[in-house]
Amino acid sequence: MRADLEVTGPHGPIPVRVYEPDGAAEAVLVWAHGGGFRHGDLDMPEADMVGAELSRRANAVVVSVGYRLAVDGVRYPVPIDDVHAVWTWVTARTDLPARRAIGGASAGAALAVSAALRATASPPDLLLLAYPFAHFPTPTLGHGRTLENIEDMVRNYVGRISDLPADALPGAARLDGLPPAYIVLSESDDLRPSGELLERQLREAGVPAESFLAPGTTHGHLNRPDDVPDAVDASLGFFAAALRAPRQAPRWLRRDGEPRIEFGADYNPEQWPREVWADDVRAMREAGVTIVSLGIFAWARLEPAERRYDFGWLDEVMDLLHAAGILVDLATPTASPPPWLTTRHPEILPVDRDGRTVWPGARQHWRPTSPVFREHALRLVRALARRYADHPALAAWHVNNELGCHNVHDYSDDAARAFRGWLRRRYTTLDALNAAWGTDFWSQRYGEWEQILPPRYANGPVNPTQQLDFKRFSSDALKEHYLAERRILREITPDVPVTTNFMVAGPINEMNYPDWAAEVDFVANDHYTRPGPQSRDELSFSANLCGNLISGRPWFLMEHSTSAVNWQPVNVPKLPGELARDSLTHVAHGADGVCFFQWRQSRAGAEKFHSAMLPHAGTSSAIFAAVTDLGARLRSLSGVAGLARTPSDVAVVIDYESWWAAEQDSHPTDRLRYRDEALDWYTALLDAGVRADVVPVSADLTGYRLVVAPILHLVPAALRQRLEEYAAGGGHLVTTYFSGIVDEFDHAWLGGYPGALRDLLGIRVEEFAPLLDGESVPLSTGTSGTLWSERVEVTDPAVTVLAAYAGGGAAVTRRAVGAGSAAYISTRLGPQGLLVILDELLSPAGVVSELPPDLRGKVELAVRGPVRFLINRTAEPVELSAVAGAPQTLPARGVVVLLSPGTPG
Ligand code: GAL
Repeated sequence: MRADLEVTGPHGPIPVRVYEPDGAAEAVLVWAHGGGFRHGDLDMPEADMVGAELSRRANAVVVSVGYRLAVDGVRYPVPIDDVHAVWTWVTARTDLPARRAIGGASAGAALAVSAALRATASPPDLLLLAYPFAHFPTPTLGHGRTLENIEDMVRNYVGRISDLPADALPGAARLDGLPPAYIVLSESDDLRPSGELLERQLREAGVPAESFLAPGTTHGHLNRPDDVPDAVDASLGFFAAALRAPRQAPRWLRRDGEPRIEFGADYNPEQWPREVWADDVRAMREAGVTIVSLGIFAWARLEPAERRYDFGWLDEVMDLLHAAGILVDLATPTASPPPWLTTRHPEILPVDRDGRTVWPGARQHWRPTSPVFREHALRLVRALARRYADHPALAAWHVNNELGCHNVHDYSDDAARAFRGWLRRRYTTLDALNAAWGTDFWSQRYGEWEQILPPRYANGPVNPTQQLDFKRFSSDALKEHYLAERRILREITPDVPVTTNFMVAGPINEMNYPDWAAEVDFVANDHYTRPGPQSRDELSFSANLCGNLISGRPWFLMEHSTSAVNWQPVNVPKLPGELARDSLTHVAHGADGVCFFQWRQSRAGAEKFHSAMLPHAGTSSAIFAAVTDLGARLRSLSGVAGLARTPSDVAVVIDYESWWAAEQDSHPTDRLRYRDEALDWYTALLDAGVRADVVPVSADLTGYRLVVAPILHLVPAALRQRLEEYAAGGGHLVTTYFSGIVDEFDHAWLGGYPGALRDLLGIRVEEFAPLLDGESVPLSTGTSGTLWSERVEVTDPAVTVLAAYAGGGAAVTRRAVGAGSAAYISTRLGPQGLLVILDELLSPAGVVSELPPDLRGKVELAVRGPVRFLINRTAEPVELSAVAGAPQTLPARGVVVLLSPGTPG
């Protein structure tokens, strides 16, 4: 619905066109078209089409302003006065939604920002700016629009080109306090630097700003919807997703019915002839499958040639699954680009550190920062979302697959460009970057942004801060790809949750998941065990961290294996009982979905020897029987669904930045493995029968009695202060060797180690003394340390030495800090060595095991509200007579679930 009205302003009536959505409005937008301040009207596409489309797509009331143009003597600030008057009129209306935005295109974007700067009494909630013309002189003057042209525009608008008022072209104004800004940039636009500069300026002023680069466009593309329909569509989608009221995350699947634990797998029907599909669905029902992740690697089948879609077969599968009551977690099939795309656009292929092209043949052969890949991927996502938006089986979106599994570190020219942009946003000036990167070392000082490269192959160690920033950037670049897909999915299916499968498992650390977690509607994880004595504990550790990425809320185990995988050097099958124990351990730590890779074991392809729910042997197999039993067991546990993890008294802190920084090259030893140390602590705590939470460093630590932060290498000043306050507030902190050493720029804290934590710990270390392979240092506790040692000088009388090196000198110390304490372990003790000193650390914190003495070490306890899980850590049955309501014995590798005291599940 649209209506032409007039609003009274300081210079007389102002024509406005109001667009109303069909349903209840969620937001209101005041919009100003462009036209160099002197052209344009309410009928141009940039006003009329944009107004109508944004109203429809975002359920918004859009008020498009026919402000006075700079003609016939009209000049600055009259157009701003008009836009501001309309804003005032809108904000005074109580019948309009509370969520308010202001925006515009080109010169209109400048007017929108200037009006927002004035609107201090009723500020907007967000800014939508299309290819803003926000500066004079413009940052660079490219091709096309000449200098005279721009000068003429400004002279006509303001009357002069010098001594401009700050808000005339508002890039010159104070921008702090403005609301979050969403900026659409035209790709080949000589005014694009103005939009990019504005984005950087906003960020520098503390204003969140996000931009979308519309591929293949020139300035003013919203005015030419027929020429570049896809880019216009994508730009409007970007704005609409921002304008719409934010969804409440976290959210769970779109489905009706009682809470339950979901059960299923990746389903790849495209690998099988159609006749098999009905058998699949029958067997799924038999196994109790409730959900499948569909179409993950189906790009080549869904878009067999550019823009030629074949959704027929997927329609059929979706219908079949729906008829059987099975939900679909539908994948955007963007993980593996098809041959037609890589043949036509080899420039999307990643480049490794040595400059080698990553050729097709496997999967994920795409650059996270390639605009060409992005365009093709997003077009497919849009087509898929439109096709299945209303399909009743669609319960969630599964974006791509394990983003970054194979392509996280791309060193291509696209990556170089994007890296520079990321660095400009981070540091703003080259001086700041040079200081942060310490470029006076080895003559690395940069004079132009264009000189900066990713840390490509070099003949020696590459600048460590460059490496660290590249890791940060690479994680962000992939997250950015996820967000770009999510924007489209949220725009088309606002009520369908969006997630992507994380890889919280073993040594995988390239994606900073604590930072990603806020962007998914629910956390989903893939976990595969690796052989070794701590394999089971590692699974628990990973599940535990997943459960704490969003404050203890339920999450979704998207993949694990029924038995052997195919990608380890030797692929060992699971022992009887392990399949269920592994699954239930994830549930114990908050998983409300248990899925496998994959439903039916492939007949061809690289994964034909990877286990599945339905193995090559068919339904008459031990695996299928174990799968079916698990399905039944999970059904009996529906009472667990929705329950948050119950926090424990002990936290083991994980910090991805410390992980990255601690394992960089040119260090005292290259043998240090951050996560192994963290896992050792977790194992030692399990051995002591103590429940711990594995939490990101950003978590609120104040509720924990004991916080173990192993190898907390990178400690910015703010983190040091948090930890000092934690201990001063009565908390008990434990940290280890190589902690507190550098700040966020990877610069050493001076004055002696452990740098930032030296005063808190009351010790000082001058030199590290890493140990050679096979070397160990005996300790007074009877155990010994490996990997690392130090000569620890005690500098504070409040420090007690808990263990000494047999050759002399403190090895483990604790400093009393008010009612709290700060302890330090200067060598690698391993789980057994840690267990020996653990009591000394737990007792002052008042932490005690919740398990009867006989069960400590043999059984892991996990708690979700009233429900307790007892997991057998051993290969022997464990006597449970000491546990009220439990059965007599817990079988080898078994799990008992006590739904409420006295009700084993
Ligand atoms: C995962 C991946 C799956 C499958 C699985 C095999 O990393 O997402 O597609 O390859 O590994 O273990």
